[in-house]
Amino acid sequence: MTHHSDFDGKTVVVTGAGSGIGRKTAVAFAGAGANVVLADVNVEGGEEVAETILGETDGHATFVEVDVTDDDDVERMVETAREEYGGLDVAFNNAGIGGTFDATEEISEEDWQRIIDVNLTGVWRCMRKEIPLMLENGGGSIVNTASILGKVGEAGTPAYTAAKHGVVGLTKVAALDHATDGIRVNAVCPGYIETQMLDDAGVTKDEELLAKTKELHPMKRLGTVEEIADAVTWLASEQASFATGETLAIDGGYLSR
Ligand code: NAI
Repeated sequence: MTHHSDFDGKTVVVTGAGSGIGRKTAVAFAGAGANVVLADVNVEGGEEVAETILGETDGHATFVEVDVTDDDDVERMVETAREEYGGLDVAFNNAGIGGTFDATEEISEEDWQRIIDVNLTGVWRCMRKEIPLMLENGGGSIVNTASILGKVGEAGTPAYTAAKHGVVGLTKVAALDHATDGIRVNAVCPGYIETQMLDDAGVTKDEELLAKTKELHPMKRLGTVEEIADAVTWLASEQASFATGETLAIDGGYLSR
């Protein structure tokens, strides 16, 4: 549980902040006193979240239209943190896409490149800009969104699974690169969570598929965005001060089978 003052006056960047896990986590950071830079390609969703934060919390929020595949956009995101709030303390690199269901030899190169570019290279592009700004102020904390598919595979998801395994590896390396610089780098590995991504994949609308998906989790249910937001805010907070390079599964037991 995030305490009200845990992020008082801290500046947090959240990518994919316009929907789902990013939205809930951005509001949680703001509720704990943070200034939040909301980044997303989804302008409508991002602006809505900014309004929610300004209306319902003591935190501040600025929305920036950002595509994490565009280096100039990512630069603008980080510069917004510097210009509006004076630096960067926390980054939640969470933007991601679900992608297609194709066997390994059938996925098109275009789909492969797109999924890797958003879900893996996007996280690296963000960290590349965030880390120097954090170093200027003596450190910070980064949380990346990987997945249970960062730890195990699922048939039909070659690019998504490869990208999320990549995020797990990249998180460990960035943690090692900066272990003595006051920057902690961790990742969350959610099980299936009720968000737009699952709607888009047709999971929530198809009763049979939904039941099968729940069944994959020993708790026999999907996770909620609140449950991921709680883990992310904990990893980002001082309460997790000795945790770095950790890739924390929040998955109803999925990976323990
Ligand atoms: P969502 O679809 O509700 O939110 C994803 C957000 O990322 C959207 O607002 C979207 O506009 C944004 N986005 C997509 N591409 C972008 C880009 N190129 N630049 C900037 N923003 C971009 O989905 P959800 O579930 O909240 O996904 C968040 C993260 O959680 C993703 O990285 C996803 O892979 C991961 N995840 C989701 C799980 C689930 O079951 N929902 C399970 C495990 C991981």
